[in-house]
Amino acid sequence: MELLDGFDTLAVERAVTLLRAGEVVAFPTETVYGLGADACNADAVAKIFELKKRPRFDPLIVHISRKESVVDLVRSVPPKAERLMDRFWPGPLTLIMEKTNLIPDIVTAGLQTVGIRMPGHPVALDLIKRLGRPIAAPSANPFGYMSTTTARDVAHLFDHRLPLILDGGPASYGIESTIVSVRDGLVRIHRHGSVSAEQLAEVVGKVVEKEHDAASCESPGELPYHYAPHTPLRIIRTPSEIEVGNSAFLAFRQPLTPVRARHVRVLSAPGNMREAAARFFSSLIELDGTASEIIYAEALPERGLGRAMMERLRKAAKKTGG
Ligand code: TXA
Ligand code: MG
Repeated sequence: MELLDGFDTLAVERAVTLLRAGEVVAFPTETVYGLGADACNADAVAKIFELKKRPRFDPLIVHISRKESVVDLVRSVPPKAERLMDRFWPGPLTLIMEKTNLIPDIVTAGLQTVGIRMPGHPVALDLIKRLGRPIAAPSANPFGYMSTTTARDVAHLFDHRLPLILDGGPASYGIESTIVSVRDGLVRIHRHGSVSAEQLAEVVGKVVEKEHDAASCESPGELPYHYAPHTPLRIIRTPSEIEVGNSAFLAFRQPLTPVRARHVRVLSAPGNMREAAARFFSSLIELDGTASEIIYAEALPERGLGRAMMERLRKAAKKTGG
């Protein structure tokens, strides 16, 4: 497995050669790292599912390098989707729209819709441009585990099962993209992420939550089993709730008094949400590796990025039974 500097043109060309040959490569985006394959090559996309041990009913996001590519991939672009693209692309927003036949069914898990995003990371954009095709990519983590925000974490989790990882530095946002659909003029949030509901509302007015319909299982990312460490995780309001000594503590701010936990990671000493999000997954992955009995996570304010992080913590708590 090669780990190459993504800002080096030769490294990106090497990645393009692999993608053209139907291989999967890991690459950086501004949200989290992705496991990419040529979106038009169904066999290559199948390899992503195998690598991640991801169920085939969980659709992938298609990444493009220029807004104009959208018209080939979707049947029509609703006016509100257009406004969201203009405001947030390139950037951490994924739009779900009706797909054309250019996208193989395996990418969308048989759905008639496709999630599309133009990432804001220069290495991701360079890679897609040089390939000259869209790249289908989920987050670079085994299914159900937390997303990765550094090349090192990707290398660690996939060991030698990837031919190449492009290193683009630590992801600047650190939380996955926000996913929305626009249907009948209504913007629905399918997954909270790096663009906040408040930011969306500034552009399109009212936004609603996607109603959760387990039976239709439209988007497994919305199910309560995602983003989980192996260690049981419990959300607490104050560090005084820490009972177990052999524990880890994911603090939002710098604690004011000494805490009982053996391992402590502070997301942002002054309580800056953007900084906290950027450190969120890498800190959790680190704490998961400390052989602690339990990870305590300090509750974050439920606005902006805090809401996206809390959504992920709640899923982790639910899955691990902490
Ligand atoms: O920030 C991100 O979005 C990262 C980077 C790599 O772009 N990607 C990412 O992909 O988080 P993934 O596969 O881990 O999560 C994508 C979520 C999945 O939960 C999937 O179910 C949902 O998007 N999704 C994709 N296409 C969809 C569609 N057509 N309808 C509903 N949900 C969809
Ligand atoms: Mg994921």
